[in-house]
Amino acid sequence: MNIIVTGASKGIGREIVKYLNRNSMHHIFAVSRDKKQLESLKSECTNPENVEIFDGDLTQNLESADFYKAIQKADCIDILINNAGMLINKPFMDMSEEDFKSVFEVNLFSIVKLIKLTVPSLRKSKNPHIVNIGSMGGIERSSKFAGLSAYSSSKAAIANLTECLAEELKEDNIHCNCLSLGAVNTEMLQQAFPDYKATINPEEIAVFIGDFATKYGRLMNGKIFSISASTP
Ligand SMILES: NC(=O)c1ccc[n+]([C@@H]2O[C@H](COP(=O)([O-])OP(=O)(O)OC[C@H]3O[C@@H](n4cnc5c(N)ncnc54)[C@H](OP(=O)(O)O)[C@@H]3O)[C@@H](O)[C@H]2O)c1
Repeated sequence: MNIIVTGASKGIGREIVKYLNRNSMHHIFAVSRDKKQLESLKSECTNPENVEIFDGDLTQNLESADFYKAIQKADCIDILINNAGMLINKPFMDMSEEDFKSVFEVNLFSIVKLIKLTVPSLRKSKNPHIVNIGSMGGIERSSKFAGLSAYSSSKAAIANLTECLAEELKEDNIHCNCLSLGAVNTEMLQQAFPDYKATINPEEIAVFIGDFATKYGRLMNGKIFSISASTP
C-alpha cells in the first residue's frame, strides 16, 4: 500500500511510520518540518528503502512541494493518515486571534488542503482510507480542560469534517474516519498536562492506528472513535 503519514518526525506519527514500515509491502511518504528527525526516523526503520521523507510545513503551499510531486508520481495513494497537530496551552482570555488561527491552520486547514490534493490519487486506490487523528477534547460532552480551547475546538472541527467528507466522498469509494485519542506520552501531552504521565505510549497507539488505517477502513465510514483509557 502507498501510505502518507503526516507529523512523522516525533511522537505518535514517528511510531506509526516505524510500525507500518515493518511490512515491506508498504511504501510510506513521511512528512513534517524537522529534517534531522525525519532522517533519523528513516535510519531506524526496518525497510528504510520503503520510506520517503519530506521536510515541509503543511500550512504552506503544498502544490509546489517535492512531497506533492512524489504523490502525483505514485500509482495511487491508498491511505492518508492526518496525524500532524499542534497545541497551544493558554487561558482563553490570553489567546490572541493569531494563536487561534495558528492552531486551526495546522489542525484543520492543512488537513483540508492535503485531502483536496490527495483525493485524485486516493480515487485510484481499490480501498482508499483517510484517517484523521482527533482528540478526546474534540468530542462532544467529553471532559474539557482549561487552556485548550483552540486545540479542542480544532479537533471538534476535524471530527465533524470527517463525517462531512465520508458523505461527500462516498461516490469515490473513499472512506474517512476519525480516531479521537486520549492521553499518549508525547511532547504534546507534556505541553497540555506538564505533570501528567499517561498509561499509553506512542508505540502502542501506533499499532492500533496502523492496523485500523490499513485493515479496517472497508468496515466503516464517517465514524468518530474515542480511543481513550483515562481522563485526560
Ligand atoms: N499525545 C496525546 O496525548 C494526544 C492526545 C490526543 C490527540 N493527539 C493527536 O495525535 C497527533 C500526534 O500528536 P503527538 O502527541 O504525537 O504530538 P507531537 O509529539 O507534538 O508531534 C506532532 C507532529 O506534528 C508535526 N507538525 C506540527 N506542525 C506541523 C506543520 N505545520 N507541518 C508539518 N508537520 C507538523 C510535528 O513535526 P515537526 O515539528 O517536525 O513539523 C510532529 O511530528 C496530533 O494530531 C495530536 O493532536 C495526541
